[in-house]
Amino acid sequence: MTSEDNLVRLEKHGAVGVITVDNPPVNALSPGVPEGILAAVDAGNADPAVKAMVLIGAGRSFIAGADIRQFGKGRPRPSRRTHDVLEASGKPVVAAIHGFALGGGLENALGCHYRIAVASAKVGLPEILIGLLPGGGGTQRLPRLIGPQLALDLIVSGRHVPADEAKDMGILDRVIPADGDLLKAAIAFAEEIADVRPLRRVGEMTAALPDGPDIFEAKKQEIARKARNQIAPYNCIAAVKAATELPFAEGLLRERELFGELENSDESKALRYAFFAEREAQKLPDVPKGTPIRKIETAAVVGAGTMGGGIAMCFADAGIPVKVLEASQEALDKGFERIRNNYAVSVKRGSLTAEAMEERMALLEKSTSYDEIGQCDVVIEAVFEEMSVKQAVFKELDRVMKPDALLLSNTSALDIDQIAEATSRPEEVGGAHFFSPANVMKLLEVVKGAKTKPEVTASTMALGKLIAKAPAACGNCDGFLANRSRAPFNSEMVIMLEEGCMPEQVDKVMVDFGYPMGPFAVGDLAGLDIGYAGRKRRAEADPNYRKLPIADKLVEMGRYGQKTGAGWFKYEKGDRTPHPDPVVADLIKTMSEEMGNTPRPFTDDEILKRLLFSSVNEACKILEEKIAYRASDVDIMWLYGFGFPRYRGGLMFWADGLGVQDVYNQIAAWHQQYGERWAPSALLRRLADTKTSFREAHTLVK
Ligand code: 3HC
Ligand code: NAI
Repeated sequence: MTSEDNLVRLEKHGAVGVITVDNPPVNALSPGVPEGILAAVDAGNADPAVKAMVLIGAGRSFIAGADIRQFGKGRPRPSRRTHDVLEASGKPVVAAIHGFALGGGLENALGCHYRIAVASAKVGLPEILIGLLPGGGGTQRLPRLIGPQLALDLIVSGRHVPADEAKDMGILDRVIPADGDLLKAAIAFAEEIADVRPLRRVGEMTAALPDGPDIFEAKKQEIARKARNQIAPYNCIAAVKAATELPFAEGLLRERELFGELENSDESKALRYAFFAEREAQKLPDVPKGTPIRKIETAAVVGAGTMGGGIAMCFADAGIPVKVLEASQEALDKGFERIRNNYAVSVKRGSLTAEAMEERMALLEKSTSYDEIGQCDVVIEAVFEEMSVKQAVFKELDRVMKPDALLLSNTSALDIDQIAEATSRPEEVGGAHFFSPANVMKLLEVVKGAKTKPEVTASTMALGKLIAKAPAACGNCDGFLANRSRAPFNSEMVIMLEEGCMPEQVDKVMVDFGYPMGPFAVGDLAGLDIGYAGRKRRAEADPNYRKLPIADKLVEMGRYGQKTGAGWFKYEKGDRTPHPDPVVADLIKTMSEEMGNTPRPFTDDEILKRLLFSSVNEACKILEEKIAYRASDVDIMWLYGFGFPRYRGGLMFWADGLGVQDVYNQIAAWHQQYGERWAPSALLRRLADTKTSFREAHTLVK
């Protein structure tokens, strides 16, 4: 038996009916799949020769969940739901899991009477990550199967759980080796339990609450800071709570009701957008299909400073041996000490075992000679931000590196083409821009130089995935995509002080908006001297450069941020909490008066828009210059590089929510008021004229 469009088939293997879902690439529950499963279960039950059934996925995975593209389309709810029908089946069904059983995938597996998986499989209910809750019975069955506390942890984190751990929790009944024959093992399992009665139905179990404190209130408190402005986490908690209070059927109704509140929420729309934006970022229109991707098995990093050390850790964390080259043995030893200390902090926090730390350290190898790194598949340069130093390094890399090695620079703002010119193979050179701390921040900005081969760009993107980063590509310009689009925000926040705003007000607005920290506190953390040096360099090069005298003065007073105990804020010894400082308030007042300004009040709305609109305008210029492929790549960079709240989708998605016309009108008004720095980009004007959204902006760029 096969469903209409071949998405689901039922085949008999002796007395076992095998239901195979075949909807590449990940067997999402797209239209036709649930119908196919229902028909197959009915057919299996109706066939006297079938004693038990197996539910399995074709290709690389079990079922990865509902088809996310279908949400919000107003499709009618089916009267019969697959997880209920599987559970109600008169003949036992065994879910056979490889790859991923996520969301609706795991929910269907929970509807089955038994679950078997290969060791490499992962299971989870990640709906919260797209602003939803498990709406296919998951919030009612999982607490019944493994207890409310564990279920709450899994549903509220959305974590993918490896098979062995899932077996320990009680989600899986059996795990076979990763290279085992899953279908064969599942059929054998089904034959073994074919006659066991009564059937084990999770919906018939009870979700008993442990004695002690209220686990739901505790969870709310645990997530309060991270989940501010969001509703899905709280609906997830409410749904699991319902499993402990209501009979199963009523719990399902409550789950459906809570799901209904989320499906069309702004939060879910933004998170679903971010999910697809991340995948879209992998598609590079100027890289021909079939472009070979180079294999990366060994790596080298030049420079073991702040960034080089963090980058080397990324390779070690991914299990890739990495050689680290420094100018001197002393610098090398210092760099390794810093790496070891970083790992030790993770061990202390309990996020890494001491054993894993030693395994990672063992993958790191010290080097002081270029000849030792020549055979590595990739080299990432992270030396001082000076063109002459970078060029000298690339000259050496050109001399020693094997022909097909990727030659990448972590420069923040230097011209990749000029760096590439130091080699005889500029087509092999590109940018791999990490964000600080490199071992933590997920963004990898992949920069294409004028001569960079598509194969090198595509391979650098793949390298990003390999080391668990979120890679996104862009062209070569001062600051590349991420920092260039962020630069006006960084200026505007200081310029607002000249008009009477205070750092603590700005920080509060941005934290309330959803950033983990305010921008002034971030500046204090990163060190204010870095921006100071950059401003001096730019002011020397450009007589029209908009100076930031208040920020400069602060640094000249020796206030570099946390490292000197004071910056925009002051800090108590050993404490990272920022405290407003009257010294700064006085400085702002005095200097703004010297500039001829009369301090005025700011609304929160103005602060937010002044910061973000300045960057939206710059992003439009970047799109127009074809430095960015599409607005969603800007969003990925802001989400993963700058901590923009994911549930707002990203800078450009957020701006779309306000409407292109309104954004344009405000920018045009500020252009009148403040002059050239607010001149609307030509693309922004065209978007407004043609009523085109930011997300579609690339369609107007020829
Ligand atoms: N719906 C629609 N498309 C999906 C999808 C889904 N659930 N899961 C993956 N895809 C698509 C991707 O967009 C991508 O398409 P593309 O090739 O056109 O870009 C393709 O499948 C392959 O996906 P990935 O590139 O992400 O492949 P990976 O191997 O890196 O990752 C994965 C696989 C871990 C399954 C990852 O795709 C993933 O996390 N998917 C989403 C899982 C999820 O959130 N499930 C819950 C859905 S909500 C739900 O079930 C509601 C229910 O409770 C009612
Ligand atoms: P850093 O000063 O901490 O480290 C630079 C290291 O390079 C030093 O250890 C130095 O000894 C070594 N070095 C210098 N010349 C060398 C040479 N010829 N051969 C081998 N090693 C050499 O600097 P940091 O902050 O790590 O920056 C490195 C690069 O990363 C720069 O290009 C910077 O712009 C970029 N970057 C920095 C970020 C940050 O937040 N610090 C963020 C993203 C990129």
